[in-house]
Amino acid sequence: MSDAEARHPFSQDKARFGEIGQHMLTELETYIADLDGKSMDRRVPDDVRRHLMSLPLPDAGQQPEEMLEFLRTQILPWPITIAHPRCYAWICAGIAPMGALADLAASIMNTGLDGYDHSSIFLNVALGRWLMELTGFSDGEGFGVLFSGGSAANLNALTAARHKAAKDDGWDIRSEGLQGGRPGFTIYTSAEAHSSIQKCAEQLGLGSACMRLVATDQQFRLIPDALRQAIRSDLDAGFRPMCIVAGAGTTNVGAVDPLDGMADIAEEFGLWFHIDGAYGGFGGLDPDYAKMYRGIGRADTLTIDPHKWLQAPVDCGALLMRHPERHAEAFGLKPDYLMSSSEDSAPWPYEHMFQLTYGNRALKTWAVIARLGRSGVRDLVVGCNRLASLLGTLVEEAPDFELLAPVSLSIANFRYVPEGETDGAALDELNDAIADEIGRTGEAHMPTTKVRGNVALRACILHYENSEDDMHHLIDLVRRCARSVSA
Ligand SMILES: Cc1ncc(COP(=O)(O)O)c(C=O)c1O
Repeated sequence: MSDAEARHPFSQDKARFGEIGQHMLTELETYIADLDGKSMDRRVPDDVRRHLMSLPLPDAGQQPEEMLEFLRTQILPWPITIAHPRCYAWICAGIAPMGALADLAASIMNTGLDGYDHSSIFLNVALGRWLMELTGFSDGEGFGVLFSGGSAANLNALTAARHKAAKDDGWDIRSEGLQGGRPGFTIYTSAEAHSSIQKCAEQLGLGSACMRLVATDQQFRLIPDALRQAIRSDLDAGFRPMCIVAGAGTTNVGAVDPLDGMADIAEEFGLWFHIDGAYGGFGGLDPDYAKMYRGIGRADTLTIDPHKWLQAPVDCGALLMRHPERHAEAFGLKPDYLMSSSEDSAPWPYEHMFQLTYGNRALKTWAVIARLGRSGVRDLVVGCNRLASLLGTLVEEAPDFELLAPVSLSIANFRYVPEGETDGAALDELNDAIADEIGRTGEAHMPTTKVRGNVALRACILHYENSEDDMHHLIDLVRRCARSVSA
């Protein structure tokens, strides 16, 4: 090593990697141990906020010890405790230590997953197959690409769908754009679809007005006859139906749309069939839900997020592509300065997506699935679903609680209803206040949503350490918080 290299701060750190790394690991070990034991209310104190936002740019480089101290005192104490088992908010996963360590290995190797024939590119092929097998999308036919999350995966799918629809009509959207005054594309989904689907429509230049929000039944599942009718009336009105988007585990209530029936309709009209299974794509592993997932193997594309139920460290989404060549047609562009995959290569993700350089999410995805195995993933899904179902039963049995949607997968929506209270606005206000109070207790985290216009306490059970005790604790906690806000 030259003197210059020896003097460079990063060269010094490489030489001390084991020693510095050990200190970091010790801090993280403490972080993990503290997460369960301490209050979940870790709001950043005002002085820390001000300190962080006004940090001066250091003139001289800092030493690793000083930097570790900064992380220890200023950053690690103030997370959102999303990885805590009693965080029932949104769709949050726990800590997957092997996933995190594999991610560290990816950072040290620093080889992106965009392309070139390195080990992770080949591993990525197997991961796509693993996800296809776990979800029932296929036995391995197709290709899986890892994205930052469900939003990015959905955008890739709908971009490819738009390209295909134009191609089927004999024109090329990549060269012509949307300037030709052609019949407007339309997208069919339900009002339960994740907001990213609307954002996709907007990003794709189709406008949110292209969204057809098809009616749902009592279980919040899209009604196939209404879908068929919507497509027919759009055709009559001169629109160009582009694709159908089903939810397999919708965000708010966990509903699984009738996939098989929707696949029939997609086939009937020659439309792209996309399933957004970012959250619930593994739900078919639960024998109680397997029937509902019939038809998942007929989708053109399936979004499935390893950073949700698989607990991969964020960020980690995936899109399973039945026809990878369609994505290559929609995205492939090879300037002289880039290499292309050859016949000996595994498919290169960058040839199927918008991004070029992107992080090696293959290692963390591999780590979480390899650590669990097929049976571990199934047990996790079944276990979470059972707990949500228990929570639903506890709610239904309690005279002062009301279930606001049928429990589906691992999501339960309910509200606290004190005896004699029938005023909707008062109940909304009370349940919002209860959710805030839950946050203040530091015992759990469970913000509200709305179900059919009513404020709901929404619990999404996704953590591998949740137990029946947690469900009883949650009921008790809601009651205690209701008492203290009423007082
Ligand atoms: C069904 C569904 N689709 C898409 C998304 C967006 O995923 P991400 O936040 O990973 O972009 C979510 C997020 O919760 C989701 O539940």
